[in-house]
Amino acid sequence: MQRVRYYEYGGPEVLTVEAVDPPAPQAGQVLLRTEAVGVNFVDTRFRRGPGSGSIFQRPLPGRPTGDVVGVVDQVGPDVDPRLVGTRVAALAEDAYADYVVADAAWLAAVPDGLEPGDASMLAMSGPVALRVLRAARPEPGETILIHSAAGGIGHLAVQLAKHLGATVIGTAGSPDKLDFVTAVGADVAVDYTRPDWADQVRAAAPGGVDIVLDAVGGQILQASLDLLAPFGRAVVYGAATGALEQIPVVTLFALRSVTGFNLTAWRRANPDQARHDMVQIADLFQTHRLHTRVHASLPLAQASTAHELIEARRHTGRILLVPTAADPTAADPTAADPTAADPTAADPTAADPTAADPTAADPTAAERVS
Ligand SMILES: NC(=O)c1ccc[n+]([C@@H]2O[C@H](COP(=O)([O-])OP(=O)(O)OC[C@H]3O[C@@H](n4cnc5c(N)ncnc54)[C@H](OP(=O)(O)O)[C@@H]3O)[C@@H](O)[C@H]2O)c1
Repeated sequence: MQRVRYYEYGGPEVLTVEAVDPPAPQAGQVLLRTEAVGVNFVDTRFRRGPGSGSIFQRPLPGRPTGDVVGVVDQVGPDVDPRLVGTRVAALAEDAYADYVVADAAWLAAVPDGLEPGDASMLAMSGPVALRVLRAARPEPGETILIHSAAGGIGHLAVQLAKHLGATVIGTAGSPDKLDFVTAVGADVAVDYTRPDWADQVRAAAPGGVDIVLDAVGGQILQASLDLLAPFGRAVVYGAATGALEQIPVVTLFALRSVTGFNLTAWRRANPDQARHDMVQIADLFQTHRLHTRVHASLPLAQASTAHELIEARRHTGRILLVPTAADPTAADPTAADPTAADPTAADPTAADPTAADPTAADPTAAERVS
């Protein structure tokens, strides 16, 4: 089988395609025959090594993680054999490969007919978007500032926030991304690479924002705290800039709070609820309340292109690796068809996820998200 690892830290070119035997699942594990792998930002930082900052350190050889969608091919000694043949999603290590070992305890069942892009969001990105939002305890009608809103997790968080009846201000770093952020439902899109971005947010929310969701860090986080209204809440779940800011206590005196979220910590703290989150996210995709924008589908051998796109901040939504290379967009990976995989292009109502969904007016719909 084909697998991608790296044996030194560096640029995307250190990603090495190799031919190896499929791994054997051990106790508590399954072996997945890979259909698609969602590539995540964090692995571009891990690959860069020590220069990425203290939160992005992993040992060599580098075994990229990824959001794997696949069919259970084998089970470990103590795992239910009835899982064989089922289509599942899992966050796994050594994930850029034709066959991937995953933890049987954290498999997400994939509903029938779900596209690979949507399925790739079930185990990690969807649950993170859901939980980050819930960590802020949102109330209907509040204003939510979502940073890096065009990204994999960001564009799901925008859609979930709209389901709650929030006013959403999404930030991103280019005009194309801003268009995408509004297409997935944000009321206002702001380019946070502009020096006046905080003023633009103030103009859109003169009384301050109620919630900030941030995985960028640095000065973006610092400035965001000052944008919070009284009783405002910021949820910090990453630091793409690598800058780990000190939060001045005095900032909190203005009736503000800051909390953090990490999926591993959440799974440890509340495993039953964390598993239920995966079921809820699957339901939201199956009922077309959530949509994934697939920016590009690339063959495994072009994993380096996937990392290049992410590091150049050119992607919107999801980048997939597809071992079979069956996807036609793989022919020219850097020029992903802006309409082919874009759910908002195919479905005019998808720009407002709630508009397409008659049950969205039903308060139980909000409950399912909140
Ligand atoms: N807490 C958890 O459990 C958890 C789990 C998974 C991921 N995360 C974090 O969540 C965030 C989103 O993850 P994702 O995989 O969905 O990534 P992503 O949003 O698809 O990609 C990262 C985005 O960050 C933005 N960004 C801002 N400053 C950047 C910089 N200096 N360098 C590069 N990118 C920058 C870019 O968007 P613009 O070009 O629009 O700025 C980029 O597209 C990441 O920070 C990740 O580490 C946290």
